[in-house]
Amino acid sequence: MRQAGRSLPEYFPVRGDGSILDAIKEPERAAEITLQPTRRYDLDAAILFSDIVTPLWATGIGIDIKPGVGPVTENPIRDESDLDRFRPVDPESDLDFQTEAIKLITKELDIPLIGFCGAPFTLATYLIEGKPSKNHTNTKRLMFSNPELWHTLCEKISDVVIASLKAQIDAGVEAVQLFDSWAGILHPVHYQEFVFPHSKRILETVQTTGIPLFHFGTGTSMLLDQFAAAGADVVGVDWKTSLRHARTILGNDYTLQGNLDPSICTAPWPVVEKEVRRILDENAGNPRFIFNLGHGVLPETNPDILARVADFVHEYGQTLLDNS
Ligand code: CP3
Repeated sequence: MRQAGRSLPEYFPVRGDGSILDAIKEPERAAEITLQPTRRYDLDAAILFSDIVTPLWATGIGIDIKPGVGPVTENPIRDESDLDRFRPVDPESDLDFQTEAIKLITKELDIPLIGFCGAPFTLATYLIEGKPSKNHTNTKRLMFSNPELWHTLCEKISDVVIASLKAQIDAGVEAVQLFDSWAGILHPVHYQEFVFPHSKRILETVQTTGIPLFHFGTGTSMLLDQFAAAGADVVGVDWKTSLRHARTILGNDYTLQGNLDPSICTAPWPVVEKEVRRILDENAGNPRFIFNLGHGVLPETNPDILARVADFVHEYGQTLLDNS
């Protein structure tokens, strides 16, 4: 449940004001916030409290997170000279806070901890646009008109991502998720040319560790085959993609994750229950399914509803498994 903290009253006093990165860089605070949802909900895994931009931020490239806005870059990437701002990551000095947080969390946690990173395309959008964007026009213009710069930029981002994922795995996470949240804005042909090789290199490099790899994006119903082919063990499906469609593309033996609409979780319980039941019925007891939201938890979500979702999924999901 991404960005689950936003809906928890106990989150804000620990998080404090200002950039979320200030809380992320303090291992004790990051550990406490990671554990908070696991105390409320009967979850099967926890996700590290961090952000997709954390490793880039740690290299001092000039990216930050503005409260209520999202990732911002003061001097967006525009030409070749901006590539000089990249430097190699030294996990011991740059990402020590992350390693420390993971060690604190895994000491307390009795369910697996999931680590994560942003994928090159989604991270590039924040570096190039300078702020969250709807059409990602600057990103697409740079990508199509200067492919050489685009690919070099993605290689540099990928090196940072690989260093962070490896450091998270060394520190003790038991699965990792690559978030390419905005890749769904691309035509499959353009995804294949401009994005796929980079995400594939990341997943292939991390594959050698043998831990499960998750790959997620929104609006990706036309990209599911490529998301899987990039080297993922699990593909995330947002709420706009039916499980039936995903199964026709990926088959019954592939593991899917999703696909509850986060907006529905703001409705009264009978409405939410009906939708959770519909998704589980559509899955028809296939054990290769991880129930989750199709995107991040919305701030106005009532935590009691999410607790009921987790319990209902376990109870009703088990009935369907037993009958399948
Ligand atoms: O649930 C968790 O706490 C896990 C940690 C987590 C965060 N961000 C913390 C966070 C995870 C897995 C993310 C992923 C993330 N961050 C993605 C990929 C997943 C997705 O939702 O598509 C993206 C695109 C981001 C970038 C980002 N960070 C956005 C768009 C925002 C929201 C800005 C806002 O305030 O509306 C953030 C901020 C952020 N990252 C919050 C949290 C808990 C929001 C609350 C806060 O600022 O304290």
